[in-house]
Amino acid sequence: MVDIAKIASFCKRRGIVFPSSEIYGGLAGFYDYGPIGIEMINNIKAEWWKEIVHKNQNIVGINGAIITHPKVWEASGHTEEFIDFVVECEKCKSKFRADHLLEDAGIKVGELDASKLNELIKKNKIVCPKCKGKLGEVKEFNLMFKTKVGPGEGETTYLRPETAQLIYLNFKNIVETSRQKVPFGIAQIGKAFRNEISPRNFLFRMREFEQMEMQFFVRKEDADKFFEEWKEKRLEWYSKIGINKKNLRIREHEKGELAHYAKRAVDIEYKFDFGWKEIEGIHNRGDWDLSRHEQFSGKDLKFFDEETKSKFIPWIIETSAGLDRIFLAILVDAYHEEEVKGEKRVVLKISPKIAAYKVAVFPLVNKDGLPEKAREVFKLVSGCYPTFYDEKGSIGRRYRRMDEIGTPFCVTIDHQTLEDNTVTVRDRDTMEQKRVKIDDLLSELYKSLNLYS
Ligand code: GAP
Repeated sequence: MVDIAKIASFCKRRGIVFPSSEIYGGLAGFYDYGPIGIEMINNIKAEWWKEIVHKNQNIVGINGAIITHPKVWEASGHTEEFIDFVVECEKCKSKFRADHLLEDAGIKVGELDASKLNELIKKNKIVCPKCKGKLGEVKEFNLMFKTKVGPGEGETTYLRPETAQLIYLNFKNIVETSRQKVPFGIAQIGKAFRNEISPRNFLFRMREFEQMEMQFFVRKEDADKFFEEWKEKRLEWYSKIGINKKNLRIREHEKGELAHYAKRAVDIEYKFDFGWKEIEGIHNRGDWDLSRHEQFSGKDLKFFDEETKSKFIPWIIETSAGLDRIFLAILVDAYHEEEVKGEKRVVLKISPKIAAYKVAVFPLVNKDGLPEKAREVFKLVSGCYPTFYDEKGSIGRRYRRMDEIGTPFCVTIDHQTLEDNTVTVRDRDTMEQKRVKIDDLLSELYKSLNLYS
């Protein structure tokens, strides 16, 4: 399995992901997506949106604000509960997440509280992993980023640590304007911010990241049924976007692990080189969120059931996926190194649905009228699919560059094209080439790409 440091340097070399603010030395936990990465990210979002919103008549989408009224986070419990435990080295001043230190020392992390951790650190003589210095007291640390709204001192609020709350805030608006009835869902894709103590493993633990969340509002008595249903559906989706089933598993949260809002939770985990890790969480949030917002806002957030003429606070089944973690899992899953005719070939065997470019068009040589013909073919294909065009350098090197970013098909215009209007179509994975009439090219690509299943 490819290690994460190798993937990070591959991403930088190929314009997929760059460390953010790099010319100033970078900023830990922040990354920028490059020209190839942003196309892939947009494709993952589009696949998720299609699966969740477009294929379900009882799920609608929103796009909520990143900064909200500060009371939102009091009501949600984040001001009080959204904490990690931090330990500082007394010598080199590096800061560490207490549970990571325990994990690295092979100690099972159960329900965390500062005094227990202090005891454990002392007993097990855990020292600073960087300089072996003495560690200080374990302290609580709230992960939300503070900001000020308005001129002067302004009002203190937070950048949202999860997108979910914006959905709860709009629950009433959606019920009143979209004619949805329980059971129904609201979906959203957007940025979330957490001031992680130790961002690590490239895109896995970031301070600014993106979530794809869906909140499904149900009757209390149906909550278990929908929890099971969504768990299965979400796991299945990963195969649809090309992730190998054997690298995925479901893990149930133990009691002590549950977030403050969760009655039950499972993680969908991917097998990275640094272990099985969560890429998506499915939670039964009970009536926690809507009840708390009702209590803190003083507004009635109950759902009125026309049929039974009764009012109730729906329970919520949440599917919460991390876009950047899914992106990382796709890359790790698809990255292959092979030997072809004595040379190393790097190939990203990603699903055509996720690939930045679906097709590349090349003239075999940059003369003899081939570039002109190739540009005609590019015009034809790029009207239907994101297409890359390149006329410089050896054809072998152009193929290799497309293999590295996972372009499924390369179309080459050669001297025979000028005679019989055919081109070669090269398959990324098998490297086999077949001749296709230009008149049939779009229908051939449509069949082979299979983008709409
Ligand atoms: N609304 C529920 C919620 O936010 P979570 O388990 O804290 O639940 C959901 O986060 C998903 O967001 C995770 O499964 C993960 O994929 C992603 N995520 C969380 N923290 C992250 C971080 N620091 N960097 C990248 N992705 C993160």
